[in-house]
Amino acid sequence: MGFNIAIDGPAGAGKSTIAKRAAKELGFLYVDTGAMYRAMALYFLQNQVDIREEAAVAGACEDIKVTIEHRDGEQQILLNHKNVTGLIRTEEVGNTASVTSAYPVVRRKLLDLQRSLAKKENVIMDGRDIGTCVLPDAPLKIYLTASVETRGERRYRELTEKGVACSLEEICQDIKERDERDMNREIAPLKQAEDAVLVDSSHMTIGEVTDTIVALAKERLTA
Ligand code: DC
Repeated sequence: MGFNIAIDGPAGAGKSTIAKRAAKELGFLYVDTGAMYRAMALYFLQNQVDIREEAAVAGACEDIKVTIEHRDGEQQILLNHKNVTGLIRTEEVGNTASVTSAYPVVRRKLLDLQRSLAKKENVIMDGRDIGTCVLPDAPLKIYLTASVETRGERRYRELTEKGVACSLEEICQDIKERDERDMNREIAPLKQAEDAVLVDSSHMTIGEVTDTIVALAKERLTA
C-alpha cells in the first residue's frame, strides 16, 4: 500500500488545484476521482441514456470502460479507450455526474480502479467519499471546504476569465443544489470522516492551503 492522502469536500472548494500542487511538492501521484464520474456522465449524455432510470444507467454501465493514464504528471481520463480529458469540465457534465454518482452501479464500477491506484503508489486522491469509503485507512485525510459564497465567486471568476457569460446567483444556486445531492444521497454521501482534518479555505490563499496539507503530510510521513 502506498502512503495515501484523501481529500474530500464539496464542489468548488479548490480540491483539485490544491491536490495537484501538493502532489507535485510531495512527489505523489494525483488522482482526480471526480473526473471518473464525469467520464461516465459524458457517456450517458452522448448516448442519450435516461439518467432518471436506474435500469437504463445500469445497462449502459456494461458498455463503459474508464481508465486513467498520467502524462507529465497530468491525469488523462479515457472513456472506452478515447481520451476525453478535454470534454468533461462543463457544468452539464458536472451536474449529470452529481446525479448519476448516486447510483450504486456507477460507484461500484469505479471503486476497484480507485483502490488499485492507491495500492500501487503514493497518491493524493480527491473526491467526496475517499476518506470515508474508498481509502478508510489513509494515514492523512483532509476535509476541504469553503462557504457557498466563496466557492460561487471563485467559479464565477474562472468562467468570466474564460469568456463564458454567467450569473453569480445561478452559480451559487447550482452549488447549493450539488451540495444537497452529494451530501444527502444514500450511498457514500459527502461527509467529513471522523479522523479527517478540517480545512476551511474561505479566507485562505491556494498557497496557504497547499502549505498546510504538505506540512501535515510531512509530519505523518516521518511519524
Ligand atoms: O469533483 P467533481 O466536481 O469533478 O465531481 C463531479 C461529481 O462526481 C460530484 O458532484 C459528485 C461525484 N463524485 C462522487 O460522487 N464521488 C467522488 N469520489 C468524486 C465525485
